[in-house]
Amino acid sequence: MNDDTQAIRFTEAVISAIGAGTDERAKEIMTSLIRHLHQFAMDVSLTLDELLAACRFLVEAGKISNNGRDEFVLIANILGVEVLVDMISHGAGSQTAILGPMYRKDAPPLAAGTSISRVRAQGEQTVFVEGHVTDAAGTPIAGATLDVWQASTNGLYDVEDRDQPDMNLRGLFTTDANGYYAFRCLRPTPYPIPDDGPGGQLLELLKRHPMRPAHIHFIVRAQGKQSVISQLYDAACIYIDNDSIFAVKNPLVLKFESADGRCDSDLYVRYDWRLADS
Ligand code: BEZ
Ligand code: FE
Repeated sequence: MNDDTQAIRFTEAVISAIGAGTDERAKEIMTSLIRHLHQFAMDVSLTLDELLAACRFLVEAGKISNNGRDEFVLIANILGVEVLVDMISHGAGSQTAILGPMYRKDAPPLAAGTSISRVRAQGEQTVFVEGHVTDAAGTPIAGATLDVWQASTNGLYDVEDRDQPDMNLRGLFTTDANGYYAFRCLRPTPYPIPDDGPGGQLLELLKRHPMRPAHIHFIVRAQGKQSVISQLYDAACIYIDNDSIFAVKNPLVLKFESADGRCDSDLYVRYDWRLADS
């Protein structure tokens, strides 16, 4: 028996050790994971030193993670895995985009048209964002909620920046009877994903930059509909074609127009969300 045949038998033995009564989905996932991990180790002739370095990398990712920082999601983002999962779940042409690690539950509910910015930010330009939430047929959905969050002009989210008040640049809006929503926020700023930990070491290893193009995050939810997790991007941003985590989709790239007196903000942007039945 040659080495390859022995290795394949070994892989199958590890898979066969999965016990009766294991949850079916867990079994499906772990069977495939074991097969791919073993094949990967064989493909690259993985050494013990390399395996232990990978384990140490994961330990460090755990140590640096806390309530405001999830290094594992960050690593999944750097490797394009969350974008791939979004594509698998929703297709490349959908309105969805990745959640990312900066989402927080319990953003404060705010009245339509309110700003999510609780303090003035250095060099800020304000944006009025409005649009409608409809079902797939275009019928307005009343009472849909839009959970919105963004980084400040220094490129940091509230959870990363002691100088920002809690829940700064986060808000929860509800559509009116016509499915209309509106809020104010800051013109988003391109920013580096956290690169002072294992995620940053990975970027350095791969000679990649950490920058994300300017964006605003959304989760749009409505009763009986599939939620849409997404981001809207500023077309004028220099990183629009060069996102460190590969998350930009063309339909989500918008021109932030000069408001020209249409509203009391510097810029204006309009975007409609369509929610499919769940
Ligand atoms: C974000 O867009 O908030 C984000 C995505 C991936 C890594 C870090 C931040
Ligand atoms: Fe972000």
